[in-house]
Amino acid sequence: MTSTDARTVPADATSAERLKDGGYEYRVVDISDEDESARFARATQRGFLGAEPTFAEITEMRATWAERRNVGVYPQGAEADELPVGTVNSWVADMTVPGGSIPMWAISMVTVSATHRRRGIARGLLEGELRAAASAGIPMAGLTVTEATIYGRYGFGPAIQAARVVVDTRTAGWAAPAAPGRLEYVDKALLAIDLDAVHERARSARTGQIPGWSRRWLGLAGITADGAKTDAAVRGIRYLDADGRLRGAMSFSLQEPPNSHHSTMTIRHLVAETDEAQRALWGFAVNHDLVDRVESALRPTDDPILHLVADQRSVEVALHDHGWLRLLDVPAALRGRRFAGPADVVLRVTDPYGFADGAWRVRVDASGAASVEETTAAADVTLGVAELSTVYAGGVPLSQLAAAGRVNGEADAVSALSHALHTDPAPFVSIWY
Ligand SMILES: CC(C)(COP(=O)(O)OP(=O)(O)OC[C@H]1O[C@@H](n2cnc3c(N)ncnc32)[C@H](O)[C@@H]1OP(=O)(O)O)[C@@H](O)C(=O)NCCC(=O)NCCS
Repeated sequence: MTSTDARTVPADATSAERLKDGGYEYRVVDISDEDESARFARATQRGFLGAEPTFAEITEMRATWAERRNVGVYPQGAEADELPVGTVNSWVADMTVPGGSIPMWAISMVTVSATHRRRGIARGLLEGELRAAASAGIPMAGLTVTEATIYGRYGFGPAIQAARVVVDTRTAGWAAPAAPGRLEYVDKALLAIDLDAVHERARSARTGQIPGWSRRWLGLAGITADGAKTDAAVRGIRYLDADGRLRGAMSFSLQEPPNSHHSTMTIRHLVAETDEAQRALWGFAVNHDLVDRVESALRPTDDPILHLVADQRSVEVALHDHGWLRLLDVPAALRGRRFAGPADVVLRVTDPYGFADGAWRVRVDASGAASVEETTAAADVTLGVAELSTVYAGGVPLSQLAAAGRVNGEADAVSALSHALHTDPAPFVSIWY
């Protein structure tokens, strides 16, 4: 478990100063104040192009955000009831890495009012988050993103890919052995509890995973404050192993085009603690009567679906960036994970922000543990902090970035480090945060 509470970290003085020069007040928001938190919630919803939140929705958001550090940007001299023009929140999450976990500064709710865009407010917010995290000694920051071109400039790299999977069940067939346990429908309240429970037990198996939170599971189970229309269509199923223990859960909905009698199943979330649970839940979806098509966003890149079906050509898998990481403390981050093979490499990392800038000799011993010492020796591998952050989780090979000209280095050193960084199973973040 992580011990740092992000709420104890004050607003970053440098961003406060810079935004003040632009005519803004940058400060930590008091989420316990009903009016202030309602304004913060309304600003985030507006920023993400959502509808005006209801009182019940605001109450739900407040409960989640009470656990986080919330920062708002306000025009100087604004009336007390004006909404913030910039928002962000953050907390310290335990992120799984090979051999354990490390603290990660999770960043969310980055919005800037459309009336105040492109004036450097997002830059002030993001740089402020990085400085706050570094000041608290957190070795890494992370986020999931709406657009892939916003965060590279701050040193984030697209470390963790996700797959969008579509199965044409009319032709897919099924090639996998039956799972020995049983499936049963569950109501939504129990589904939310099951999704959470299985995620908590399963997340240590995948680099990149972080804990979820109550509202995330309720939403995936189709329970939201005001019962959105989409909630009604959500159903839940769980898998119990041969000994009756809960091992997997899935929320899904079915959509039937008019007069077709053949539906599409959309998997909202599938979480499994064992291979057989995953097989059983996929089997439920692919072999469901009257379903022609199964769609799932956010699957791991090494999801077994291609090998569960008889005809791989019935499955479309599209990869995309999902989890972005940003190293802040290179020695702590490298020492914090295990490696898959030996390496003895001098790394030169460039970071315009300075947090990760430096040169280190990285030696991985037979147990996979790394020793990391600052050095003035000539570099074997030179790369930017965004590139190191991209390969850190072991899902994107260093050699792939070298082939793209994004990393410079001597071929043997690149190859050794690339192998050492590799993680199996592939890293994954199964939720948006
Ligand atoms: C994305 C968003 C936060 C940017 O806010 P902003 O205050 O206009 O951004 P800034 O003025 O600080 O711009 C900082 C840099 O980011 C760039 N940038 C801003 N928005 C961008 C976008 N959508 N795509 C690519 N680059 C973007 C700017 O061009 C600027 O580049 P530079 O300084 O390197 O030349 C804002 O447009 C927004 O709230 N969008 C809707 C919500 C959203 O998508 N949030 C992101 C959640 S992951």
